[in-house]
Amino acid sequence: MLTAQGQDLPTELFAKVQAGKALVVSREAQCTLCHRIPEHAGAMGDLGPNLEGVASRLSPEAMALRVKDSRRINPYTIMPPYFSTEGLSQVDPKFKNQTILSETQLQQVLSYLGSLK
Ligand code: HEC
Repeated sequence: MLTAQGQDLPTELFAKVQAGKALVVSREAQCTLCHRIPEHAGAMGDLGPNLEGVASRLSPEAMALRVKDSRRINPYTIMPPYFSTEGLSQVDPKFKNQTILSETQLQQVLSYLGSLK
C-alpha cells in the first residue's frame, strides 16, 4: 500500500506506520508539540527539528536512541524519555516505573519515523 510519501509498503508494515503516525500526533505522545511532521493538518510546534526526512539523516538505531532516551545524547534535552524510567522526578505514583510508550507503541513510532525519508 502507498504511504503519504508515495512509498509502496507491504500491508503489515503499512498498518504499523499508520499506527505510529497516529501515536506521534496523539495527546499521549505529544511529539507534535515540539516537532513538525509532513502531511499533518493539525497544530505543530517547532521547539525540536522538523521530522520531515529524518530517516535520511539518522539511522534506525540513532532514531531509536533519541525516542527511547534523548538524555543519553543531550543531558539537558527538553524531549521526554519515551522508553526509560530512570532518573525521573515528580512522577504520578500511578505511572511510577512505567515507560511513556509500550514496546509495541515504540516499534510503531519507529516504523513511522523510518518511513520519513
Ligand atoms: C518537549 C519537546 C519535545 C517532544 C514532546 C518531543 N521531542 Fe523530539 N526532540 C526535541 C528536541 C528539542 C530535539 C533536538 C535534540 C535535543 O535537543 O535533544 C528533538 C529531537 C528529536 C529527534 C532527532 C531529530 C533530528 O533531526 O536530529 C527525533 C527523531 C525526535 N526528536 C522524535 C520525537 C518523537 C517521535 C517524539 C514523540 C514520541 C518526540 N520527539 C517528542 C523535543 C521534543
